[in-house]
Formats: sequence, structure tokens, C-alpha cells
Amino acid sequence: MKIGICSDHAGLEYKTRLIAYLLGKGHEVVNFGTDSPESCDYPDYAHLLGAALDKGEVDAGIALCGTGNGMVMTLNRHPSVRACLAWNVEVARLTKEHNDANVLVMPARFVSYRMAVMMVRAWMETKFAGGRHQRRIDKIALH
Ligand code: RB5
Repeated sequence: MKIGICSDHAGLEYKTRLIAYLLGKGHEVVNFGTDSPESCDYPDYAHLLGAALDKGEVDAGIALCGTGNGMVMTLNRHPSVRACLAWNVEVARLTKEHNDANVLVMPARFVSYRMAVMMVRAWMETKFAGGRHQRRIDKIALH
């Protein structure tokens, strides 16, 4: 898979480690920043990942900030994005099975790195269940 990844300063350390993890698993990774520990604004990086998903330049995304909420709020402004916040393995699994999330967002200040890796693995291994969940996803869009 070609995976886009982004963070703000709060998620930088986990992002750096996750890039190495994903490359080790044979994925292609596109890093949208930040690459500096200086305080920065999460929308600047979330929009880069969202635009890449809208253009089909990456297959899926991973995003990290302190709470994850800024990333989720920004990413979901992009029409092709379904970004979900996860904080444990079961929630990460359900973001794919029920919500067909194409971006997994994690709160770097509130989960361990080990938990972040386990969530990424669960999210990537899970398939969307379809059926009633597809009907619910279809109702999300404003008409
Ligand atoms: C940065 O201090 C923090 O506000 C940011 O990482 C994130 O939690 C925002 O949603």
C-alpha cells in the first residue's frame, strides 16, 4: 500500500517511528510533515494529506497530533476522507470494519507508541464489513 502520513510537533516522534515500521513491512510511505519539533499548526499538514487522498496520490493515511482531534476535524473537510480517531486496538479495528476509515488518527499524547503500532496493525488488517455499515456511511454526506 501507498500510505500518506502526517503529524504536528506532538505526533512527530511516533510518526518518525511509524514510518520506519511501515517501510519495514514493505509499504510505500509518503511523509507530509512536520519534520521539526518546533510548535506548528496541525491543519497545515492535515490538508496536505487530505489533498493527496482527494487526488488519489496515496491509498490511505495515518495522522497524529496531541489529542488527534485537530487532525480528524481538518482531514474530514476533504471529500474523499473518512478520518477516525482511535485510542485502543478494538476502536482502531472498528474504524475500518464499521466506518471504512481511510485515515487512522491517533492521540500521540494519550497512547503509548506500542499501542499506536498495534492500532496501525489492526486497522490495516481489518476489512470493511459493508452491508448496513455502507448504508450508514452513505447517509453521512450532506445533500
Ligand atoms: C498541540 O499542542 C495540540 O493542540 C495538538 O497537537 C492537537 O492536540 C490538536 O488537536
